[in-house]
Amino acid sequence: MKLVLASKNKKKLAEMNEILSQLGVEVCSEAEAGVDVEVEETGTTFEENSLLKAKAVMEASGMPAIADDSGLCVDALGGAPGVYSARYGGPELDDAGRYRLLLENMRGQSPRTAKFVSVITCCFPNGDVLSARGECPGTIAFAPMGEDGFGYDPVFFIPSLKKTFAQLSPQEKNAISHRGKALEAFQDKLEKYLGR
Ligand code: IMP
Repeated sequence: MKLVLASKNKKKLAEMNEILSQLGVEVCSEAEAGVDVEVEETGTTFEENSLLKAKAVMEASGMPAIADDSGLCVDALGGAPGVYSARYGGPELDDAGRYRLLLENMRGQSPRTAKFVSVITCCFPNGDVLSARGECPGTIAFAPMGEDGFGYDPVFFIPSLKKTFAQLSPQEKNAISHRGKALEAFQDKLEKYLGR
């Protein structure tokens, strides 16, 4: 089966394929499916935004579409940036600008506990919807560390591994990440849905 990923993020595409290929499911990009969909993420929850994205791409492509809505929720900041993680600090900031702003806003704050959340939704052309959530607890580092990954990876620290997400290999990250866990739960639901 082939699913279209409702995202322009190549790293997310690679992470999804790494996990779902085990099920014989191929995930392709919007470009490969011949669509280019801009979805306004107007929801206030990961569930709502994930559904908005998957539904829009399913309708545009006529193919089953999968979306991940994810973000970083920091306890000392009341759960921010949360669903606004990609837009934290405004459109002029890049990934490094956003995590620097986060470090600035965390100066003197405690606790430094946080979690990444991912909600995966798959919309089928017949109207069926599958959805799964995954969370990964960690803390906010005092300074960025590591080169791999994307987004807030350099400042998201896993105390048990003494490393940030950006210091893990893709396989190590997938094994514990919010997206890895959501995909695992999604994989179970998809297997049942496909009657395997
Ligand atoms: P989305 O693409 O609308 O789901 O936005 C998610 C945003 O949350 C991304 O732009 C990143 O800033 C952040 N994010 C989500 N997952 C990760 C991750 O695995 N590592 C680092 N940042 C992430």
